[in-house]
Amino acid sequence: MIRRARNLLLPRSEPHLLLARQPLTDAPDFPVLGVSVHPGDAKTLEPFTAAHGFPAGWATEMLADGAPALVAVDDATGETLAMAWTTSRPFHVEEIGATIDPGPGGVYLFGDFVAPAARGRRLQRLLVNRRLRRAAADAHLACTIVHPDNAASVRSYEHEGFAARGRFVRTTWLKREWKAVRGDGFRWDANVLRPRITPGSER
Ligand SMILES: CC(C)(COP(=O)(O)OP(=O)(O)OC[C@H]1O[C@@H](n2cnc3c(N)ncnc32)[C@H](O)[C@@H]1OP(=O)(O)O)[C@@H](O)C(=O)NCCC(=O)NCCS
Repeated sequence: MIRRARNLLLPRSEPHLLLARQPLTDAPDFPVLGVSVHPGDAKTLEPFTAAHGFPAGWATEMLADGAPALVAVDDATGETLAMAWTTSRPFHVEEIGATIDPGPGGVYLFGDFVAPAARGRRLQRLLVNRRLRRAAADAHLACTIVHPDNAASVRSYEHEGFAARGRFVRTTWLKREWKAVRGDGFRWDANVLRPRITPGSER
């Protein structure tokens, strides 16, 4: 009871890491034995997302919004093991209550999900790698958001050359809310986060 009252009265801060990688042209191939990567269509993604608790129609809506998906498929069984998404358009991120705009020449990576039975095989890293290599033809920066407690996700992105360029902190207290960005890798303006794109700069 006291703990609950204290939790209600004290401000709550939730941090997220803002990760980016620039440029995209030098990602060496990262294969996973026995697994192939393909573009995902609604026919594959709807059953996969439904089986893992995503809202009905979520994948179809994302595809209709122009966000391509990749899926990792078991070569032996044809089973879909994981999915991952990319967009070059502004994208509202529910978890942080803000929009990420990857800006001209940028892509935002989101929706990484590995089926629980397939975890521990670095499939997220595989899909980060494949999205980087596909995006490199048109984009020179990739960004994403990861909760700092999600050690597997932080590692997958770090292995693929992403570095923390800032922190997004959302603080709630009673019915009020504050949002702030720390670090200089992202701009924060009118509820929109934009990575600072410096063409030609090395990561
Ligand atoms: C996060 C997620 C995508 C990772 O799946 P995965 O590709 O199977 O990840 P792996 O288990 O292979 O781990 C990747 C790396 O993190 C490390 N790792 C995994 N769990 C870890 C933990 N609890 N603590 C520290 N490191 C951990 C692994 O050792 C591996 O590192 P390595 O390559 O240096 O050995 C998966 O757990 C998932 O779908 N979770 C739910 C959705 C989610 O959180 N998506 C990401 C949102 S940003």
